[in-house]
Amino acid sequence: MTVSAPGKLMLFGEHAVVYGYPCIVTAISQRLEVSLSDTDNVPGDRRFVDAAIQAWGDGKDIKLSAKCAFSGCYGFGSSSAVTVATLKALRPEAPDRTLFDTAYKIILEIQGVGSGFDVASAVFGGTLYYIKNKAIEPLAVKDVPLVVGYTGIKSNTVDLIKMVAKKREEYPEKLERICKAIGKIVDEAKTRMIEGDWERVGKLMDFNQEYLRDLGVSSEKLETLIGAAKSAGAYGAKLSGAGGGDCMIALASAEKRQSVEEAITKAGGEVVHVTPNAEEVRVEA
Ligand code: PMV
Repeated sequence: MTVSAPGKLMLFGEHAVVYGYPCIVTAISQRLEVSLSDTDNVPGDRRFVDAAIQAWGDGKDIKLSAKCAFSGCYGFGSSSAVTVATLKALRPEAPDRTLFDTAYKIILEIQGVGSGFDVASAVFGGTLYYIKNKAIEPLAVKDVPLVVGYTGIKSNTVDLIKMVAKKREEYPEKLERICKAIGKIVDEAKTRMIEGDWERVGKLMDFNQEYLRDLGVSSEKLETLIGAAKSAGAYGAKLSGAGGGDCMIALASAEKRQSVEEAITKAGGEVVHVTPNAEEVRVEA
């Protein structure tokens, strides 16, 4: 039995989603694969796989191998993808909702924090409008003209979530105001993305990025790549995910794509080719 789950990219609403506001996430074509096999081969962090086997392995001695089409460094969600793929391999017939709940519980037990948007993306695929404990809504978007640039710096999601939480304790009103404003941007982005109004969606990315900067989660390298993409004619650009490093995203017309990619590379970023709106977790064989 081989199961694959997609990686993900946060398009709008990171951090605010932790506090009950909406976000938009898209599943990407790069996938992580888990196979039940005779030999055990799980590179890197085993905690998620072990917890999944503990949950749905029925006490059996399960061996499996995992391989990932993307680097764990990009922040494409390898922890949630490996958790979802392992659970699916153990109980392929489980309803999506049960799979989501079980995987999210495992992630929370191990990481302590997180909105579950990445788990939802792996389980349901496509592009989702997501509110923690409230909404998982598929969005009928197509041909998102996305450009992705990796900063070369691995960021620590848990530390960044904690940093924002600390700020929220110190300046509750300011943080509430920022998160609320981000929520509004996400709501408009949802409509504009369905319409395919990429020029406006790009503007909304810029607005979202301003608030992320206010939250203190951007970085010099992210700003450099975002600035380069925009100077080269992108509709808009922002960081994607926790911030601090990992990837930035931009939207660019077909005519501008190449110059935007070149600008990102020239600014010291690594362009990562991904196709958004990818299929959910699935049994391959
Ligand atoms: O670092 P990533 O790509 O896993 O994204 C984190 C997004 C946050 O909103 C900061 C955290 C979360 O779980 O929603």
